[in-house]
Amino acid sequence: MEKNNFSLTALGTAFMRGYHTRNDDSLIFCDPLAYGLLTEKERSLISEHLMDRLKSVDAGGAALCPDEASALRRALQLYTGASTVLSRARYADEALRKAIGQGIEQYVILGAGMDTFAFRCPKALKKVKVFEVDHPATQAFKRNRIAELDWKVPPQLHFVPLDFTQSSLEEIEARSPYDPTAPTFFSWLGVTYYLSRDTVLDTLAAVARISPAGSMVVFDYLQPSLPGSVKAAERLKVIADSLKALGEPLLTGLDPASLGDDLEGVGLRLLEDLGPAHIQGRYFEGRKDGYRASEHIHFALAAVE
Ligand SMILES: C[S@@+](CC[C@H](N)C(=O)[O-])C[C@H]1O[C@@H](n2cnc3c(N)ncnc32)[C@H](O)[C@@H]1O
Repeated sequence: MEKNNFSLTALGTAFMRGYHTRNDDSLIFCDPLAYGLLTEKERSLISEHLMDRLKSVDAGGAALCPDEASALRRALQLYTGASTVLSRARYADEALRKAIGQGIEQYVILGAGMDTFAFRCPKALKKVKVFEVDHPATQAFKRNRIAELDWKVPPQLHFVPLDFTQSSLEEIEARSPYDPTAPTFFSWLGVTYYLSRDTVLDTLAAVARISPAGSMVVFDYLQPSLPGSVKAAERLKVIADSLKALGEPLLTGLDPASLGDDLEGVGLRLLEDLGPAHIQGRYFEGRKDGYRASEHIHFALAAVE
């Protein structure tokens, strides 16, 4: 991410959750507030960007679409990470609900972007304090938007601006009422891609340092190389090129074969590594639209040892 710019991908992922909630029949993830965080102008710029992309990667498919609405649907379902954005949000939400049932007291949303959990789940706030940790520029953008919209910030929600490449998560304790002795659930969605491998592992090590044993972290990651799959490599290149153009290039992937060891090295125990086939089976089976698991993406759940 460029130093002083807020994250455009955070707006893009909010658009995907909002579009899906409003327009699709069978919901993978329901986020009725996401669209509201974007202005009409932002929504139409994102739609135009996605339709332009469809024309460049699938001119034939674009020509078959009778109108803009169907072109946008085709672009979103087939040529963006929308399927990943929706299914990882669902995966994290399921793990979080379970963890709340088991007595988790804090929820830390790392790289929160336009996440709306604290605004749409008031009941959960009776059980957990929420900490949104994000790049200072993205968080400032979001807080301004919340103020413009006159949304009331619940007292259980705390904002911590932090650049993962510059500061460690210990800052959360210094700058908020975060309690390092309380069992905590961390989500880190759509972020590992944009950081160096060292920063990814340092941040996960900090999760283990600042929370007690049994705390959990969920994150998604890219498996960059899929042996023998030329088509998959081409599809990944389309996504990588478009992220680079947005100023948020893909920097890091992880190897599922060594993920357990990598996590063990930073004080975490891998509980689950959900690969594409399992994500497909769990969240997309039987769908008749174009949403489907990405062949490159995994969801991981780990516990602090
Ligand atoms: C693709 S968005 C994901 C947002 C949200 N988690 C979601 O799933 O929609 C990437 C997020 O990572 C954050 N991010 C990227 N680089 C960062 C850094 N160096 N420090 C802190 N946050 C960073 C961005 O500000 C943005 O909120």
